[in-house]
Amino acid sequence: MLHKASRIPTVLVTGSNGQVGFELRRSLVPLGRVVALDRKACDLTNIDVLRDVVRSVRPDVIVNPAAYTAVDKAETETELAFAINGTAPGVLAEEARALGSLLVHYSTDYVFAGTGDKPYVESDAVGPLSVYGKSKLAGEQAIAEAGGAAIVLRTCWVAGAHGGNFAKTMLKLGRERDSLRVIADQFGAPTTASLIADVTAHIIDRAWLHGDRMEFPGGVYHLAAAGEASWHGYATEVLRYAASKGVELKVDPEAIEPIPATAYPLPAPRPSNSRLSTRKLRETFDINLPAWQQGMHYLLDQLLP
Ligand SMILES: NC(=O)c1ccc[n+]([C@@H]2O[C@H](COP(=O)([O-])OP(=O)(O)OC[C@H]3O[C@@H](n4cnc5c(N)ncnc54)[C@H](OP(=O)(O)O)[C@@H]3O)[C@@H](O)[C@H]2O)c1
Repeated sequence: MLHKASRIPTVLVTGSNGQVGFELRRSLVPLGRVVALDRKACDLTNIDVLRDVVRSVRPDVIVNPAAYTAVDKAETETELAFAINGTAPGVLAEEARALGSLLVHYSTDYVFAGTGDKPYVESDAVGPLSVYGKSKLAGEQAIAEAGGAAIVLRTCWVAGAHGGNFAKTMLKLGRERDSLRVIADQFGAPTTASLIADVTAHIIDRAWLHGDRMEFPGGVYHLAAAGEASWHGYATEVLRYAASKGVELKVDPEAIEPIPATAYPLPAPRPSNSRLSTRKLRETFDINLPAWQQGMHYLLDQLLP
């Protein structure tokens, strides 16, 4: 019996060498033809090239994990941060709309002021404290203004096997230093790049490629692992797990000193409360989000010798 040949969808991924971009190269492969481009092949500061790339690839879906993520440097490189995080996502949204394609973009807990201790829901008032947060908010707004089918996944405290992150830094310092002091009054959910990439693939597959496009529930969603921790709790879990796997540490995981954020001043202010409510995402797309420790253990299993 002959089956009707179906067209294989094309998915364009920017920033393919970042933490999330790297994992997307794995998670999106079963969906179709993945065209994953790094900064050299698709520079978000060059709008003409960006438009040309999208017009020549003609993707069914654009996934945009590329971003200016140097939070402290953004305080002085304001223009560059806004070009990459603010202007370029709007251009991608315009191009996606012209093609009738879906844009998937990532944003951050830094769009909030981080007051209180309740998990933020998507409709809560924004109030970024830093240039980075403001530039990411500008990207969200540019996408909304462009119209078309788009989904923005706000995430937090990302760690992946590829690229630099807090978990890797703690592993390194735990081996090298005699003592560690870590901030204990900022809270969020450590979220692995692989979880973000897997959820992205699930949404695209179920809701866009095999769903009713007229009914596609676009908009902003919060995506983070379940549970919460302070940076201090996060560091303790990383070193405890490493020790349980036989890694020789100079620092006793139970002896990491908790300090207030005021004792570790940085150029860009950070939100104290990075808790994100993920109920909307879980209920809309039937997604289970595991406890952050589960993802972290899986990541550490890849990182540990
Ligand atoms: N990391 C976090 O904790 C965190 C928290 C909340 C939200 N997010 C958001 O999650 C998304 C993914 O973050 P991530 O952790 O995967 O970031 P990442 O590891 O820093 O990766 C960002 C990627 O963007 C690329 N890039 C930078 N400037 C570019 C340009 N002008 N043109 C094209 N590509 C450019 C970088 O290229 P190079 O490899 O050449 O540098 C890098 O590969 C971003 O939207 C970020 O804002 C991240």
